[in-house]
Amino acid sequence: MKNILITGGAGFIGSHVVRRMVTQYPDANIYNLDALTYAGNLENIKDIEKATNYEFIKADIVDGALMEKIFVEKDITHIIHLAAESHVDRSITNPMAFVETNVIGTGNLLQAAKKHWNGNYNGKKFYHVSTDEVYGSLGETGFFYEDTAYDPRSPYSASKASSDHLVRAFYHTYGMPIVISNCSNNYGPNHFPEKLIPLLINNILNDKPLPIYGKGDNVRDWLFVKDHAVAIDTILYKGKEGETYNIGGHNEWSNIDLVRLLCDKMDEKLGREIGTAQKLITFVKDRAGHDMRYAIDATKIEKELGWTPSVTFEEGLSQTIDWYFENKDWLENVTSGDYANYYDKMYS
Ligand code: NAD
Ligand code: DAU
Repeated sequence: MKNILITGGAGFIGSHVVRRMVTQYPDANIYNLDALTYAGNLENIKDIEKATNYEFIKADIVDGALMEKIFVEKDITHIIHLAAESHVDRSITNPMAFVETNVIGTGNLLQAAKKHWNGNYNGKKFYHVSTDEVYGSLGETGFFYEDTAYDPRSPYSASKASSDHLVRAFYHTYGMPIVISNCSNNYGPNHFPEKLIPLLINNILNDKPLPIYGKGDNVRDWLFVKDHAVAIDTILYKGKEGETYNIGGHNEWSNIDLVRLLCDKMDEKLGREIGTAQKLITFVKDRAGHDMRYAIDATKIEKELGWTPSVTFEEGLSQTIDWYFENKDWLENVTSGDYANYYDKMYS
């Protein structure tokens, strides 16, 4: 029997991974461990909360003793570790929260797994979900490969890079069966509206300015979140011990082109004159140390594990907008309270 611990399963990507694993593997026990920070929301997984193979555990990965207890009590055999502080802008104002959760929290989980597995690694796996931001910033050409040297430049990416190094150290030093993936920018349903795409959707719906950092010429490589969840499932079962897999959508967009596309799609769906939303575009002060371009070479996972993205950007963006239109309560809930304070501090 597999006992799979998923950390951060109440967040954006984690909720899609939890749903995928609960529905795909009825014979496995799926434990969703999440501290429910501002980014965690049990509404994201309400549809599967009564599944017999699912249990939610509210816990903070910074509490090492608690992690050890949970590994023993639930006899964890596999972990998919997604819990993290994930927003670059927040890491610029509060870097230590990122060191605590992303570095110390990951260290605690590794220690808990090492102690519980006690050298018996047969049928075990520690899967660490990471980001392409650890590779740094590209110029106009080139791609991130699995062996691209790490060059993190924000407190967020530096904390993720540190956690990646720790995970690899446990493989080399203790022989722990680990696997790591580094993925490009995700978008889709349940994305917290501090990140670019849901922030724009929310602001267009509320007729608020659309803040674009700098000149809007930074480039991101966008992947639909459900495709990422399938990639994670594939890597958990088929990924080779000690290996790293890059995940990406071959889908580069400059921010300004993406914003214009989204504006026009929103106008179309709202049945109003194209160009209306674009009038809200407002160029604001650039992000400190803003990475210019990310682009993933995903050949390894495609060739070795047979994963490719299934959703085109056109379809994915359309599904995403529709989801926000149909889930205005969700949007209102997550943007009430603390979000308003964050938004004022960040954009005033
Ligand atoms: P998110 O911020 O939406 O969710 C993070 C989740 O972790 C939340 O549910 C939160 O409550 C939980 N969490 C935070 N601190 C915790 C703690 N100390 N203990 C327990 N739970 C805690 O993040 P996301 O965008 O879903 O990202 C998930 C993972 O994927 C992260 O590790 C991130 O680095 C990585 N990643 C994200 C992207 C992206 O585009 N969003 C791309 C590549 C990789
Ligand atoms: O590449 C993977 C990473 O993608 C993940 O590891 C991170 O967790 C995730 O947050 C994301 O990081 P980015 O910084 O690329 O995403 P964000 O949505 O914050 O910003 C996308 C781009 O849009 C970036 O160039 C900054 C810009 N931006 C963002 C916001 C919030 C704006 O121009 N205006 C904004 O208001």
